[in-house]
This record gives sequence, structure tokens and C-alpha cells, in this order.
Amino acid sequence: MAITITWHGHATYALDIDGVPVVVDPFFSPNNPAAKVTADEVEASFILQTHGHGDHIADTVALAKRTGALVIANFEICNWLNAQGHDKTHALNLGGGYDFDFGRVTMTRALHSSGLPDGSYGGDAAGFVIAASGRRVYIAGDTALFSDMALIGGADGIDLAVLPIGDNYTMGPDDALQALDYIKPRMVIPGHYNTWPLIAQDPNAWAERVRQETDVRPIVIAVGESFTLE
Ligand code: NI
Ligand code: MN
Repeated sequence: MAITITWHGHATYALDIDGVPVVVDPFFSPNNPAAKVTADEVEASFILQTHGHGDHIADTVALAKRTGALVIANFEICNWLNAQGHDKTHALNLGGGYDFDFGRVTMTRALHSSGLPDGSYGGDAAGFVIAASGRRVYIAGDTALFSDMALIGGADGIDLAVLPIGDNYTMGPDDALQALDYIKPRMVIPGHYNTWPLIAQDPNAWAERVRQETDVRPIVIAVGESFTLE
């Protein structure tokens, strides 16, 4: 029983949760210049969609239609996916959670925007807390730093936080470090960097700061590689 998380570059993650494939923010090759695989090479029973921007949703419709995955997203994005011809959706909204087969997913706020690629209104950007396999994973999504991150773990805390560090579109390395002080996870994986020169960052330099300045264990995974949460 374990959660294995594979990074496909940018903010795209493939989670194996006790054998159930769950993809976060499908953005694969050739749309995603960092990804090593196409959406055709990935399995999904569930898709978690944090918001509607193209660098998170470019491959969602194709992946969802091919795999028949249930897409978990906000109400507006679910409606948009339904209009694209994929009707297997489950709408959550901020603060709400639901017990799926693989575990409980709660939608958290993110400080970001969420318009869809065709200009449709995408509702509010979000993050997710996944409570599954005895572990709690916080996928922050695209977000700025906000002090209410301190509330996200609740009494049970967070085992693994996945945070953007790229700057420009999201919080950068300094704010992501501050976020750890609010979230207090056991481990952190940095993301949303090095996809383009505009969000170039040195993840190992950031990880060293995490080791020096916090009690959190940083996990830097290369594109295509995996980490298993024990
Ligand atoms: Ni975005
Ligand atoms: Mn983004």
C-alpha cells in the first residue's frame, strides 16, 4: 500500500495510489516541452484538474476520452469538459471533499486565475488534498503564497506537499520556502519550474535552502522519475 508520484514536467503528475492511476493536470508532449511522454502513453482512472489554464488542461480532454477517466475539477471546468464531449466528471468546490474509491479528495483554495483555453470562464483556481493509502498529499496547484495555507493540513497534517517554485506565474523560491512554514509538511516536491526560460529555477539550490532553514525533507525528482511515499 503506497502512493508513487511520477513527475511529467511542469505541473503534471501521475500518481499510483494502491494501483489506481490518478493524473494531475494533464500536459504532455508535444504541448509540454518538458514532458518525455505523450498523453497516449499514460493511464488514468481519475484526473484531478486544478484550474483551466492551457499548461494544465491541454491534454485533459484527449486523455479523459481515451481512458474513460473520471475528471475531478470545479463546477465550471466540469461543465466545459461536458461540452467537449466528456461527461464523466465530478464537480467539487472550494472547501468541499468527497470519498472516491482510492481515497478522499478535498478542494483547497489557490490564489491564481483559471480561464479556459477558448476563453470560457473557468471558475476559481484550486489545489487538492488527497487522503489515501494512509497518507495525506497536498497538491497546491498554481498559487501565490497565502497565510491560510497554515489551515490546509488541519489536525492530521500533510505528509507531502507539492508546491510551485517557478516564480512569474506562481510563487517563487522565497515564497515557497515561507509556505513550508505555514503548511509544515513532512516532505516537499517542487514543481512548475524549468518548463520555459521564464520559470527557470535551480531545484537543488532550493532543496538545500529547505534543508538548512526548515525541518521539511525536500524531494527533487527529475522529469519521468518517481518517488514513493512511505
Ligand atoms: Ni495557471
Ligand atoms: Mn501554470
